[in-house]
Amino acid sequence: MDFGIAGRWAVVGASSQGLGLGCADALASEGVNLVVNARRAGPLAEAAERLRAHGVEVREVVGDISESGIRETLLDAAPQVDILVTNAGGPPPGDFRDWDEDAWLAALKQNMLTPVELIKATVDDMAARGFGRVVNITSAAVKAPIATLGLSNGARGGLTGFVAGVARQPQLAAANVTINNLLPGRFATARLARTGSSPSTDGIPAGRFGDPAEFGATCAFLCSAQAGYITGQNMLIDGGAYPGTL
Ligand SMILES: NC(=O)c1ccc[n+]([C@@H]2O[C@H](COP(=O)([O-])OP(=O)(O)OC[C@H]3O[C@@H](n4cnc5c(N)ncnc54)[C@H](OP(=O)(O)O)[C@@H]3O)[C@@H](O)[C@H]2O)c1
Repeated sequence: MDFGIAGRWAVVGASSQGLGLGCADALASEGVNLVVNARRAGPLAEAAERLRAHGVEVREVVGDISESGIRETLLDAAPQVDILVTNAGGPPPGDFRDWDEDAWLAALKQNMLTPVELIKATVDDMAARGFGRVVNITSAAVKAPIATLGLSNGARGGLTGFVAGVARQPQLAAANVTINNLLPGRFATARLARTGSSPSTDGIPAGRFGDPAEFGATCAFLCSAQAGYITGQNMLIDGGAYPGTL
């Protein structure tokens, strides 16, 4: 299927590896030009070089996406932002008794306010042009909270509530601007290796970890011309791990 987005421009946050890179790669394979981002320049340059093999233009912005100046540089690097994929590292695990206000503010800044600011800066221009796609990389923990990931549960829960309202604003939805969240379960990335001493596939009916390329393909579909009637949704990609009917 031709996704109908060749030649468009996407900004993909936190995209030198893992799920962000999976999304960038799938978009590039659909002919989408990219602005990619990460804090470390070396891995970002390597990723950008690989993405250019798809024959698209790829611009790199090095820096922490939770800083407003970096976000501005990121958005300014594209001639226009047709597609926005928000992503950042996740907050650390722990016991909520140990987290002070600064720990909470850092998590809220990175995993809630950063995507909120990026959405605010882009969706009205998308609406004026009659096309826009926003995909936020959140977590399966939004639907099935993990006790030790309280900072993530809280910050991402806030983002999810915000998106549920904004995506349904008629001035966006009726202008072909969609905003959706992708909720990864356990994917084989560097992040997964960091979160547990021995990551396990127990409880995953698929019997394996997800592949970032599978995640990216779903992201690219949500960004396609054909996905214009899907908005305000939270899509789990977890190999069947969530046990509920809905
Ligand atoms: N993998 C999973 O199973 C899973 C499950 C649930 C949720 N998630 C969430 O999905 C997101 C992506 O996870 P992942 O597994 O792809 O992680 P990953 O493999 O560790 O990759 C993270 C990427 O983001 C960049 N990055 C991190 N913090 C950044 C920041 N503040 N500003 C700019 N770039 C930043 C990293 O590069 P630099 O280090 O160079 O900045 C790297 O490119 C995270 O929020 C994670 O919590 C992942």
